[in-house]
Amino acid sequence: MKKIAIIGAGRVGESTAQFLAQSDLVRELALLDVREGAAAGAALDIQETAPLFGFDTRLTGSTDPGVIAGAELVVITAGLPRKPGMSRSDVLDKNVEILDSILVDVVREAPDSQILVVSNPVDVLTYRAWQKTGWDRSRVFGQAGVLDAARMATFVALETGLSTRDIHTLVLGGHGDAMVPMLRFSGINGLPLHYFLDQAAIDRIVERTRHGGAEILGLRQTSSAYDAPAAAVKAMVESILLDQRRVLPTVALLEGEYGASDAAMGVPCVLGTGGMERIVELDLNAEEQANFDSSLAGVQADIARLK
Ligand code: 2OP
Repeated sequence: MKKIAIIGAGRVGESTAQFLAQSDLVRELALLDVREGAAAGAALDIQETAPLFGFDTRLTGSTDPGVIAGAELVVITAGLPRKPGMSRSDVLDKNVEILDSILVDVVREAPDSQILVVSNPVDVLTYRAWQKTGWDRSRVFGQAGVLDAARMATFVALETGLSTRDIHTLVLGGHGDAMVPMLRFSGINGLPLHYFLDQAAIDRIVERTRHGGAEILGLRQTSSAYDAPAAAVKAMVESILLDQRRVLPTVALLEGEYGASDAAMGVPCVLGTGGMERIVELDLNAEEQANFDSSLAGVQADIARLK
């Protein structure tokens, strides 16, 4: 890929641009933001780190949608962030409106692209992007589970004192309080978590993971998380760009998988040059399926609000 576009030069968009540029993964990185100077300023600021980090990515930023022309991958981070005490669903109506206008630009300027939705509520907005573009589901997907699993892995490392390198975690479902940390599919170098943690510690990790976004927002007050979300986006983009075909939790359109259809939610997916190339369907036990279903019900209730 030669060109990636990031829509929204807020904190997530800017950190994503910095991480992607620093990795020298792509020749051109275009930032688009409706706020005068925001995208241009971020692009130039990051460009000026090139001699220090040693990368050749060229960044451009503008309020003109033409800046994203020909992008092969479009990362959407624009939207109203939630304030302390708000749920991700509370920003739904405004962010659907913002997304709809962005999609008009994307379809016109980058008709052959893949779309990676990051804005919240991400499951519903991914569904909306798929619905509005009419594109194949392999080209429209969202980021949530990579971040949630990274948070869970962090908490496992903090509770055990063991290396994050050996910790594998999986979080499925919607990116909300009902998300589903999958203990049976998480562990430390293949060893189940209960070898290292008692039930009380495991319960703490699950709860902290579910409220990971709110924890950061509660601390910062004026901003949601952006470093870890941007790092999660970078991991997904890298898998696509380099055709690594990693299996990463991804917000994907479900067409019968996990007993769900006409909804988008976090499930394990293969990410490669073809975008969301495959959904991996796990054999859930009754408790896991019930948790998945209750997360799904929340996402479906929000999808029903779409006009
Ligand atoms: C988070 O979980 C903002 O949804 C994002 O931090």
